[in-house]
Amino acid sequence: MMQAQIDQYTAEINAFSPANADELEAFRIKFLGTKGIIKDLFEQFKTVGPEEKRTFGKVLNEFKQLADAKYNELKENIATSTQSKGNDLDLTLPGDGFAVGSRHPLSLVRNEIIDIFKRLGFVVAEGPEIEDDWHNFSALNFPDEHPARDMQDTFFIKKNNGKDDIALRTHTSSVQVRMMEHGKPPFRAIMPGRVYRNEAISARAHCFFHQVEGLYVDENVSFSDLKQTLYHFVQELYGEGTKVRFRPSYFPFTEPSAEMDISCTICGGPGCNMCKYTGWVEILGCGMVDPNVLENCGIDSKKYTGFAFGMGMERIANLKYVIRDLRLFSENDVRFLKQFQTEML
Ligand code: PHE
Repeated sequence: MMQAQIDQYTAEINAFSPANADELEAFRIKFLGTKGIIKDLFEQFKTVGPEEKRTFGKVLNEFKQLADAKYNELKENIATSTQSKGNDLDLTLPGDGFAVGSRHPLSLVRNEIIDIFKRLGFVVAEGPEIEDDWHNFSALNFPDEHPARDMQDTFFIKKNNGKDDIALRTHTSSVQVRMMEHGKPPFRAIMPGRVYRNEAISARAHCFFHQVEGLYVDENVSFSDLKQTLYHFVQELYGEGTKVRFRPSYFPFTEPSAEMDISCTICGGPGCNMCKYTGWVEILGCGMVDPNVLENCGIDSKKYTGFAFGMGMERIANLKYVIRDLRLFSENDVRFLKQFQTEML
Protein backbone atom coordinates (compact mmCIF):
# COMPACT_ATOMS: atom_id res chain seq x y z
CA MET A 1 0.00 0.00 0.00
CA MET A 2 2.78 2.39 0.89
CA GLN A 3 4.64 1.51 -2.27
CA ALA A 4 1.67 2.54 -4.45
CA GLN A 5 1.38 5.84 -2.61
CA ILE A 6 5.06 6.55 -2.98
CA ASP A 7 4.97 5.78 -6.70
CA GLN A 8 2.13 8.22 -7.13
CA TYR A 9 3.88 10.95 -5.15
CA THR A 10 7.09 10.34 -7.04
CA ALA A 11 5.30 10.90 -10.33
CA GLU A 12 3.71 14.05 -8.90
CA ILE A 13 7.05 15.40 -7.75
CA ASN A 14 8.76 14.66 -11.06
CA ALA A 15 6.04 16.42 -12.97
CA PHE A 16 5.89 19.41 -10.64
CA SER A 17 6.82 22.71 -12.25
CA PRO A 18 5.86 25.76 -10.21
CA ALA A 19 4.94 29.02 -11.91
CA ASN A 20 6.08 31.11 -9.00
CA ALA A 21 7.53 31.10 -5.51
CA ASP A 22 4.10 30.67 -3.89
CA GLU A 23 3.48 27.40 -5.68
CA LEU A 24 6.90 26.18 -4.65
CA GLU A 25 6.17 27.07 -1.06
CA ALA A 26 2.92 25.12 -1.24
CA PHE A 27 4.94 22.16 -2.55
CA ARG A 28 7.34 22.44 0.36
CA ILE A 29 4.53 22.51 2.88
CA LYS A 30 2.74 19.59 1.22
CA PHE A 31 5.74 17.26 1.05
CA LEU A 32 8.38 18.52 3.42
CA GLY A 33 6.44 20.51 6.00
CA THR A 34 6.18 19.45 9.63
CA LYS A 35 2.71 18.08 8.92
CA GLY A 36 3.58 17.06 5.38
CA ILE A 37 3.44 13.83 3.43
CA ILE A 38 6.95 12.65 4.18
CA LYS A 39 6.48 13.16 7.88
CA ASP A 40 3.28 11.16 7.59
CA LEU A 41 4.95 8.36 5.65
CA PHE A 42 7.63 8.05 8.31
CA GLU A 43 4.86 7.83 10.94
CA GLN A 44 3.24 5.04 8.95
CA PHE A 45 6.59 3.36 8.55
CA LYS A 46 6.82 2.89 12.32
CA THR A 47 3.86 0.53 12.19
CA VAL A 48 5.01 -1.84 9.43
CA GLY A 49 6.43 -5.26 10.14
CA PRO A 50 10.16 -6.01 10.28
CA GLU A 51 10.22 -7.64 6.81
CA GLU A 52 8.69 -4.57 5.11
CA LYS A 53 10.83 -2.25 7.16
CA ARG A 54 13.93 -3.38 5.34
CA THR A 55 12.55 -2.76 1.82
CA PHE A 56 10.51 0.34 2.60
CA GLY A 57 13.21 1.94 4.68
CA LYS A 58 15.27 2.28 1.56
CA VAL A 59 12.36 3.30 -0.67
CA LEU A 60 11.24 5.91 1.83
CA ASN A 61 14.69 7.41 2.21
CA GLU A 62 15.10 7.65 -1.53
CA PHE A 63 11.74 9.29 -1.80
CA LYS A 64 12.66 11.85 0.82
CA GLN A 65 15.93 12.60 -0.96
CA LEU A 66 14.05 13.08 -4.22
CA ALA A 67 11.63 15.55 -2.66
CA ASP A 68 14.49 17.46 -0.98
CA ALA A 69 16.53 17.61 -4.17
CA LYS A 70 13.60 18.74 -6.26
CA TYR A 71 12.72 21.45 -3.78
CA ASN A 72 16.28 22.77 -3.57
CA GLU A 73 16.70 22.80 -7.32
CA LEU A 74 13.43 24.64 -7.89
CA LYS A 75 14.22 27.14 -5.15
CA GLU A 76 17.47 28.03 -6.81
CA ASN A 77 15.84 28.33 -10.24
CA ILE A 78 13.16 30.60 -8.94
CA ALA A 79 15.69 32.83 -7.19
CA THR A 80 17.79 33.30 -10.32
CA SER A 81 14.89 33.65 -12.70
CA THR A 82 13.20 36.39 -10.68
CA GLN A 83 16.49 38.20 -10.65
CA SER A 84 17.16 37.91 -14.34
CA LYS A 85 13.59 38.55 -15.38
CA GLY A 86 14.00 41.84 -13.54
CA ASN A 87 10.34 41.96 -12.58
CA ASP A 88 10.91 44.88 -10.21
CA LEU A 89 13.42 46.72 -12.36
CA ASP A 90 12.28 50.00 -13.86
CA LEU A 91 14.86 51.11 -16.37
CA THR A 92 13.29 54.53 -16.71
CA LEU A 93 14.05 55.50 -13.10
CA PRO A 94 16.85 58.07 -12.72
CA GLY A 95 20.16 56.53 -11.61
CA ASP A 96 21.66 56.91 -8.14
CA GLY A 97 24.14 59.75 -8.29
CA PHE A 98 27.34 59.22 -6.35
CA ALA A 99 29.05 62.10 -4.66
CA VAL A 100 32.46 63.08 -6.00
CA GLY A 101 34.78 64.65 -3.47
CA SER A 102 36.73 67.80 -4.14
CA ARG A 103 40.07 69.11 -3.05
CA HIS A 104 40.17 71.85 -0.48
CA PRO A 105 41.20 75.18 -2.06
CA LEU A 106 44.21 75.33 0.25
CA SER A 107 45.33 71.90 -0.94
CA LEU A 108 44.92 73.02 -4.53
CA VAL A 109 47.07 76.06 -3.88
CA ARG A 110 49.65 74.09 -1.91
CA ASN A 111 49.95 71.47 -4.65
CA GLU A 112 50.36 74.13 -7.28
CA ILE A 113 53.06 75.95 -5.29
CA ILE A 114 54.88 72.67 -4.69
CA ASP A 115 54.69 71.84 -8.40
CA ILE A 116 56.22 75.14 -9.43
CA PHE A 117 59.09 74.95 -6.96
CA LYS A 118 59.74 71.27 -7.67
CA ARG A 119 60.41 72.22 -11.27
CA LEU A 120 63.09 74.58 -9.93
CA GLY A 121 64.71 71.75 -7.98
CA PHE A 122 63.22 72.49 -4.55
CA VAL A 123 62.34 69.58 -2.26
CA VAL A 124 59.43 69.58 0.20
CA ALA A 125 60.15 69.48 3.93
CA GLU A 126 57.97 69.54 7.03
CA GLY A 127 58.43 70.21 10.73
CA PRO A 128 56.40 69.94 13.95
CA GLU A 129 53.53 72.31 14.77
CA ILE A 130 54.45 72.25 18.46
CA GLU A 131 57.79 73.99 18.68
CA ASP A 132 60.31 75.12 21.27
CA ASP A 133 61.46 78.66 21.73
CA TRP A 134 64.79 77.92 20.05
CA HIS A 135 63.37 76.81 16.70
CA ASN A 136 60.51 79.30 16.54
CA PHE A 137 62.39 82.35 17.87
CA SER A 138 65.93 82.25 19.30
CA ALA A 139 67.72 80.50 16.44
CA LEU A 140 65.94 82.89 14.08
CA ASN A 141 67.64 85.82 15.75
CA PHE A 142 64.65 87.11 17.73
CA PRO A 143 66.02 89.11 20.67
CA ASP A 144 64.81 87.88 24.07
CA GLU A 145 62.38 90.72 24.53
CA HIS A 146 61.09 90.79 20.95
CA PRO A 147 57.37 91.61 20.90
CA ALA A 148 56.62 88.67 18.60
CA ARG A 149 57.18 86.39 21.58
CA ASP A 150 54.40 88.23 23.34
CA MET A 151 51.47 86.33 24.76
CA GLN A 152 49.22 88.25 22.40
CA ASP A 153 50.69 86.55 19.37
CA THR A 154 51.89 83.20 20.54
CA PHE A 155 50.01 80.29 22.04
CA PHE A 156 52.42 79.15 24.71
CA ILE A 157 51.95 75.63 25.99
CA LYS A 158 54.64 74.97 28.58
CA LYS A 159 57.20 76.77 30.68
CA ASN A 160 60.75 75.54 31.17
CA ASN A 161 62.79 76.95 34.10
CA GLY A 162 60.18 79.72 34.47
CA LYS A 163 60.48 80.70 30.82
CA ASP A 164 57.83 80.16 28.17
CA ASP A 165 59.38 77.44 26.11
CA ILE A 166 56.96 75.26 24.19
CA ALA A 167 54.47 76.92 21.85
CA LEU A 168 52.39 76.35 18.75
CA ARG A 169 54.67 77.56 15.97
CA THR A 170 53.82 81.06 14.80
CA HIS A 171 55.45 80.62 11.39
CA THR A 172 57.03 77.93 9.22
CA SER A 173 60.45 79.61 9.53
CA SER A 174 61.06 77.16 12.40
CA VAL A 175 61.36 74.42 9.75
CA GLN A 176 64.28 76.32 8.15
CA VAL A 177 66.16 75.98 11.43
CA ARG A 178 65.41 72.27 11.71
CA MET A 179 66.50 71.70 8.17
CA MET A 180 69.79 73.61 8.47
CA GLU A 181 70.62 72.09 11.87
CA HIS A 182 70.27 68.57 10.55
CA GLY A 183 71.90 68.80 7.15
CA LYS A 184 74.68 70.28 5.13
CA PRO A 185 74.33 72.98 2.46
CA PRO A 186 73.23 73.33 -0.26
CA PHE A 187 69.58 73.54 0.86
CA ARG A 188 66.79 74.13 -1.57
CA ALA A 189 63.41 73.39 -0.01
CA ILE A 190 59.89 74.58 0.46
CA MET A 191 58.05 73.87 3.68
CA PRO A 192 54.28 74.04 3.74
CA GLY A 193 52.38 73.84 7.01
CA ARG A 194 49.90 75.18 9.54
CA VAL A 195 50.83 77.98 11.90
CA TYR A 196 49.07 79.50 14.91
CA ARG A 197 48.63 83.00 16.28
CA ASN A 198 46.60 84.22 19.17
CA GLU A 199 44.16 86.41 17.25
CA ALA A 200 40.43 86.92 17.49
CA ILE A 201 38.69 85.09 14.65
CA SER A 202 37.14 87.35 12.01
CA ALA A 203 36.80 87.56 8.24
CA ARG A 204 40.38 88.84 8.05
CA ALA A 205 42.18 87.03 10.86
CA HIS A 206 42.22 83.53 12.27
CA CYS A 207 43.98 81.77 15.12
CA PHE A 208 45.50 79.34 12.62
CA PHE A 209 46.42 79.63 8.98
CA HIS A 210 48.87 78.10 6.52
CA GLN A 211 52.23 79.16 5.19
CA VAL A 212 54.75 77.98 2.67
CA GLU A 213 58.32 78.70 3.58
CA GLY A 214 61.14 78.67 1.07
CA LEU A 215 64.85 78.33 1.72
CA TYR A 216 67.80 78.35 -0.63
CA VAL A 217 71.32 78.21 0.82
CA ASP A 218 74.46 77.66 -1.20
CA GLU A 219 77.67 79.42 -2.13
CA ASN A 220 77.12 82.72 -3.94
CA VAL A 221 73.37 82.98 -3.52
CA SER A 222 72.40 86.62 -3.98
CA PHE A 223 69.39 88.88 -3.69
CA SER A 224 69.00 88.76 -7.48
CA ASP A 225 68.52 84.96 -7.22
CA LEU A 226 65.75 85.65 -4.72
CA LYS A 227 64.10 88.18 -7.01
CA GLN A 228 64.29 86.02 -10.10
CA THR A 229 63.01 82.91 -8.31
CA LEU A 230 60.01 84.72 -6.90
CA TYR A 231 59.37 86.54 -10.16
CA HIS A 232 59.29 83.22 -11.99
CA PHE A 233 57.03 81.74 -9.32
CA VAL A 234 54.49 84.53 -9.70
CA GLN A 235 54.45 84.24 -13.50
CA GLU A 236 53.74 80.53 -13.17
CA LEU A 237 51.08 80.91 -10.50
CA TYR A 238 49.17 83.98 -11.69
CA GLY A 239 50.13 84.11 -15.34
CA GLU A 240 52.66 85.85 -17.56
CA GLY A 241 52.72 89.59 -17.17
CA THR A 242 51.94 89.68 -13.45
CA LYS A 243 54.12 92.47 -12.08
CA VAL A 244 56.12 92.28 -8.88
CA ARG A 245 57.64 94.90 -6.62
CA PHE A 246 59.81 94.59 -3.54
CA ARG A 247 59.48 96.93 -0.58
CA PRO A 248 62.15 97.10 2.15
CA SER A 249 60.95 95.50 5.36
CA TYR A 250 62.24 93.94 8.55
CA PHE A 251 62.41 90.39 9.86
CA PRO A 252 64.88 89.37 12.59
CA PHE A 253 66.04 86.38 10.54
CA THR A 254 66.70 88.04 7.19
CA GLU A 255 68.97 90.93 6.23
CA PRO A 256 68.15 92.72 4.04
CA SER A 257 64.44 91.95 4.21
CA ALA A 258 61.62 92.78 1.85
CA GLU A 259 57.96 92.31 1.27
CA MET A 260 56.84 91.41 -2.20
CA ASP A 261 53.70 92.80 -3.82
CA ILE A 262 52.17 91.66 -7.07
CA SER A 263 49.89 93.60 -9.41
CA CYS A 264 46.33 92.97 -8.29
CA THR A 265 45.15 89.71 -9.85
CA ILE A 266 41.52 90.80 -9.60
CA CYS A 267 41.53 94.26 -11.26
CA GLY A 268 44.93 94.06 -12.97
CA GLY A 269 46.02 97.47 -11.71
CA PRO A 270 43.36 100.21 -11.80
CA GLY A 271 42.22 99.40 -8.25
CA CYS A 272 39.44 97.43 -6.61
CA ASN A 273 38.48 96.58 -3.09
CA MET A 274 40.75 93.47 -3.07
CA CYS A 275 43.83 95.71 -3.49
CA LYS A 276 42.26 98.56 -1.50
CA TYR A 277 42.42 100.66 -4.69
CA THR A 278 46.23 100.58 -4.84
CA GLY A 279 46.61 98.11 -7.71
CA TRP A 280 49.08 96.06 -5.60
CA VAL A 281 48.68 93.22 -3.13
CA GLU A 282 51.30 91.95 -0.74
CA ILE A 283 51.85 88.21 -0.95
CA LEU A 284 55.01 87.37 0.95
CA GLY A 285 57.92 88.31 3.17
CA CYS A 286 61.47 87.47 2.15
CA GLY A 287 65.12 88.33 2.48
CA MET A 288 68.68 87.07 2.65
CA VAL A 289 69.15 84.64 5.53
CA ASP A 290 70.80 86.60 8.36
CA PRO A 291 74.37 85.34 8.96
CA ASN A 292 73.47 84.95 12.65
CA VAL A 293 70.82 82.40 11.70
CA LEU A 294 73.27 80.44 9.57
CA GLU A 295 75.78 80.40 12.45
CA ASN A 296 73.06 79.39 14.96
CA CYS A 297 72.45 76.38 12.76
CA GLY A 298 76.13 75.50 12.46
CA ILE A 299 76.62 76.81 8.93
CA ASP A 300 79.67 78.83 7.94
CA SER A 301 78.26 82.25 7.04
CA LYS A 302 81.53 83.27 5.38
CA LYS A 303 81.17 80.48 2.86
CA TYR A 304 77.42 80.27 2.43
CA THR A 305 74.64 82.73 1.78
CA GLY A 306 70.98 82.11 1.21
CA PHE A 307 67.53 83.52 0.76
CA ALA A 308 64.27 82.70 2.43
CA PHE A 309 60.66 83.63 1.93
CA GLY A 310 57.36 82.89 3.57
CA MET A 311 53.86 83.32 2.23
CA GLY A 312 50.36 82.81 3.57
CA MET A 313 48.49 80.17 1.60
CA GLU A 314 45.10 81.67 2.41
CA ARG A 315 46.21 84.92 0.83
CA ILE A 316 47.36 83.12 -2.29
CA ALA A 317 44.03 81.26 -2.47
CA ASN A 318 42.05 84.48 -1.87
CA LEU A 319 43.68 86.05 -4.87
CA LYS A 320 43.14 83.01 -7.03
CA TYR A 321 39.55 82.25 -6.08
CA VAL A 322 38.36 85.59 -4.65
CA ILE A 323 37.49 84.24 -1.22
CA ARG A 324 36.77 87.15 1.05
CA ASP A 325 36.25 85.50 4.41
CA LEU A 326 39.07 83.50 6.02
CA ARG A 327 36.62 81.54 8.11
CA LEU A 328 35.32 79.74 5.02
CA PHE A 329 38.57 77.80 4.83
CA SER A 330 37.96 75.96 8.08
CA GLU A 331 34.17 75.74 8.35
CA ASN A 332 33.89 72.69 6.07
CA ASP A 333 30.70 73.96 4.52
CA VAL A 334 30.13 71.65 1.53
CA ARG A 335 28.42 74.44 -0.42
CA PHE A 336 31.76 76.24 -0.33
CA LEU A 337 33.94 73.17 -0.88
CA LYS A 338 31.86 71.81 -3.76
CA GLN A 339 32.78 74.81 -5.89
CA PHE A 340 36.31 73.47 -6.25
CA GLN A 341 35.24 70.13 -7.76
CA THR A 342 36.24 71.07 -11.28
CA GLU A 343 39.62 72.25 -10.03
CA MET A 344 40.70 68.76 -8.91
CA LEU A 345 44.35 68.21 -9.56
N1 PHE B 1 58.14 84.08 8.83
C1 PHE B 1 57.70 85.33 8.25
C2 PHE B 1 56.24 85.57 8.67
O1 PHE B 1 55.62 84.71 9.22
C3 PHE B 1 57.77 85.33 6.76
C4 PHE B 1 59.19 85.23 6.24
C5 PHE B 1 59.75 84.02 5.99
C6 PHE B 1 59.93 86.38 6.01
C7 PHE B 1 61.05 83.94 5.48
C8 PHE B 1 61.21 86.32 5.53
C9 PHE B 1 61.78 85.12 5.26
O2 PHE B 1 55.73 86.65 8.48
